[in-house]
Amino acid sequence: MNKKDSYVIYGGTFDPPTSAHAKLIRDLSSRFGRTFIVPCKVSPFKVSAGAPAFRRLEMLGMITDGISGVETDTFELDREGTDYTYITLLHFREKFADKKFYLCMGSEMLIELERWKRTDIMAELATLYIVPRPHYPITDNDIRKMNELGFKYEIADFSGEDGSSSEVRISVAMDRPDMFLTEEVADYVTHNGLYRDFCYVNELYKRFGMKQTRIEHSFSTALCGVKLAKRVCVDTHKASKALLLHDIGKYLTKEDAEKMGVRFDGRIDRMPLPIRHAEIGAEILRQLLGETDGEIIEAVRWHTTGKPDMTPMEKIVYLADYIEPLRRFPTVNVLREATERSIDDGLRAALANSVEHVGQEELYPATVDAYNYYKENK
Ligand SMILES: [Fe+2]
Ligand SMILES: [Fe+2]
Repeated sequence: MNKKDSYVIYGGTFDPPTSAHAKLIRDLSSRFGRTFIVPCKVSPFKVSAGAPAFRRLEMLGMITDGISGVETDTFELDREGTDYTYITLLHFREKFADKKFYLCMGSEMLIELERWKRTDIMAELATLYIVPRPHYPITDNDIRKMNELGFKYEIADFSGEDGSSSEVRISVAMDRPDMFLTEEVADYVTHNGLYRDFCYVNELYKRFGMKQTRIEHSFSTALCGVKLAKRVCVDTHKASKALLLHDIGKYLTKEDAEKMGVRFDGRIDRMPLPIRHAEIGAEILRQLLGETDGEIIEAVRWHTTGKPDMTPMEKIVYLADYIEPLRRFPTVNVLREATERSIDDGLRAALANSVEHVGQEELYPATVDAYNYYKENK
């Protein structure tokens, strides 16, 4: 689809610019007359601290240099106050009054479309250009929302790739920054010590005796879980922590943990051994690691059993642990397909799988309660 008479604006934190951004920008440049990349100061939707603007600009240079028709515009970085896309669109409209503008966004952004400020002005000034991204299907609900908000939209004739800033932070902790970054950006990130938010987990893995296979499972769970988190608007930074540390109690007995200073109530003695590690992990987080966020602690506590009426954070940790890509059991693909449809479908499928396949002696009442709860709450 040639849109050489139109211009496209692609905004974001680019913190950091990923390989997925790089591909998307190349695809835009081959379709539009001009492509404006607009990095923002601080996204109103993000809480984790990232790289300063000058570093993000340097990295953006690495992925855009030499692509014709692409320019990075520092309008949002230069102006005072919070960045809102409608203000940026007004700025471009003033600059290029006779041009048709598209506003590019990955399909993952549609989830929070109604949170954007002044969507009425946005809808007047630009047509949305939605790039489908893996794991974020454009749903009927998204289409309804766009229509209700008065947006004109087009779906891109190409797809985006995997990779978000949360996934980059996890891959840096894995010492694999090249997973979601171009080689040049990965080197830059390593050289400048960026995005090391979760590197500390490696120390904790050592301290609590995690085996290599369990460490790999934890990273894989985290990469899988942050995608789920985004789909249900759970803070991905918080989710990353819960996901990375969900099995931190895996290799400790209750007595080991008590020797380290952890105190338990009597509940743990009624738990079958294979699921105790969740309780141990939650109490390590709370009592030894000073975690104060109840959402994180409870997601670790319930990750093996599930329970009725789970919070979104509990659901995604439970589910990601169950279906992460390293998991191999006969029905896992059925669970993955259910999760692609919706998190609750995935949860129901996972709970049903536990009730049907886990031996009775290992089944904890909370799992049965959760199974019945979600079965009835269709
Ligand atoms: Fe576990
Ligand atoms: Fe696990």
